[in-house]
Amino acid sequence: MTLPTQEPTPSTLTSKKVNIQTFGCQMNEYDTDKMMEVLRHENYTYTDNCKEADLILVNTCSVREKAEQKVYSLLGRLRPLKEKNPELIIGVGGCVAQQEGKSILNRAHNVDLVFGTDNLFDLPEMIEEVHRGNRIVQTERKAYKQKVRNFIPDFAFENISKPGLKAYIAITKGCNNFCSFCIVPKTRGLEVSRKPENILEEAASLIAQGTKEICLLGQNVNSYKAEGVDFVELLGHLNEIDGIQRIRFTSPHPKDFHEQLADAIRDLEHVCEHLHLPLQAGSDTVLERMKRNYTLEEYLEKVELLRSRLPHASISTDIIAGFPGETESDFEKTIEAAENIRFDQIYAFKYSPRPDTPAANYDGQLEEAVKAERLNRLLALQEKIVAQKHQKLMGKQLEVLVEGTYPRDTSSRSGRSREHHPVVILNSDANIGDLVDVRITGAKKYSLEAIAL
Ligand code: 5AD
Ligand code: SF4
Repeated sequence: MTLPTQEPTPSTLTSKKVNIQTFGCQMNEYDTDKMMEVLRHENYTYTDNCKEADLILVNTCSVREKAEQKVYSLLGRLRPLKEKNPELIIGVGGCVAQQEGKSILNRAHNVDLVFGTDNLFDLPEMIEEVHRGNRIVQTERKAYKQKVRNFIPDFAFENISKPGLKAYIAITKGCNNFCSFCIVPKTRGLEVSRKPENILEEAASLIAQGTKEICLLGQNVNSYKAEGVDFVELLGHLNEIDGIQRIRFTSPHPKDFHEQLADAIRDLEHVCEHLHLPLQAGSDTVLERMKRNYTLEEYLEKVELLRSRLPHASISTDIIAGFPGETESDFEKTIEAAENIRFDQIYAFKYSPRPDTPAANYDGQLEEAVKAERLNRLLALQEKIVAQKHQKLMGKQLEVLVEGTYPRDTSSRSGRSREHHPVVILNSDANIGDLVDVRITGAKKYSLEAIAL
């Protein structure tokens, strides 16, 4: 008879399983990680399989209507699991939860718990309440008048479970801009910056456990300011952390992109040469009605600011097609802007009216077919630009952080360059986490091919 080598510990005896389904932006992915950290302290382990979960959390997005619809159809699909296992707890968090609150409980009878974007750290108490037989709604905003706060408690990053090669860190949350199409100021509240020492501790903890690349998150990341430290100074402090390889950030607002930040991207060794700078539209009339606080000319000046220092930096953007009242000639200006700026990547969306946002009540709401046609025209142009840009990169030397084995060819590796280009390194035995200097030898539609030098 063989004896067990290790006694089961009380924690493994009482361990429960949680599955988290995440929709939407990087901030939601980050929040999901934090939910997992909170639950790990409560002896939950993660499972990919929602059929074996004791707790299923749905982390929702409401930025466009489609994302919201996906949440309700997922909740519908989860119904049979709850019928089979009445002990199963189903919770809904994130932006739809913040916005809809109690009406989710009325609409989806299998949901036990609805929690807002400020409430994820109270999950243990809320789950307790559900165990007592109550259905819970907790969407209370925490201290929204404070501009600076540790909105991530220390325990959530002291000993992060198996952090990835790349990790997000939220440095601000909320937004004070109130662009007329955007629901975020309602779902995430007004802007709050997190204390610098709290951010630096989280970064150091991640790096000590093997993370190589950090991406700073905020709805308006470059307006960060806390305890006299602004965004550029924060980048400077992070750049000094022993072992950090790469620093990225998203999304900056053009109005807060200035010379010092362009200098920092050029001068700080670990800050990558890539900027995601949302344009939204190329027509000044549309930009004004979007309440973006800049003209196309001012936006172009910001692009020039970066390119004058770093001609090879890549620039990506967000564009909305078919904003209310957008005329054909307005949209032509977006197309012209995309032709002139030659973005490396465009995240383009059809305008989606969101509840209680000013633009949802504007005159001139466009037909879906018009929005779709404009979106497709922009995407077709961008495809051509990317193909031309890929050709220009032929023979160039780039540094790639290896993220994994290329699924279609296990003798190749995949990763991203500092400029955020997706690169496949052919015939490589590099390990995950290696930084490899490569020469670009080919291009596919969505990625570059390279050989290690
Ligand atoms: N409709 C379409 N796109 C939107 N975005 C934000 N709100 C809407 C909306 N109502 C886009 C913007 C933003 C990105 C995150 O999502 O382009 O930059
Ligand atoms: Fe929304 Fe505008 Fe704030 Fe971005 S800057 S989160 S688009 S309100």
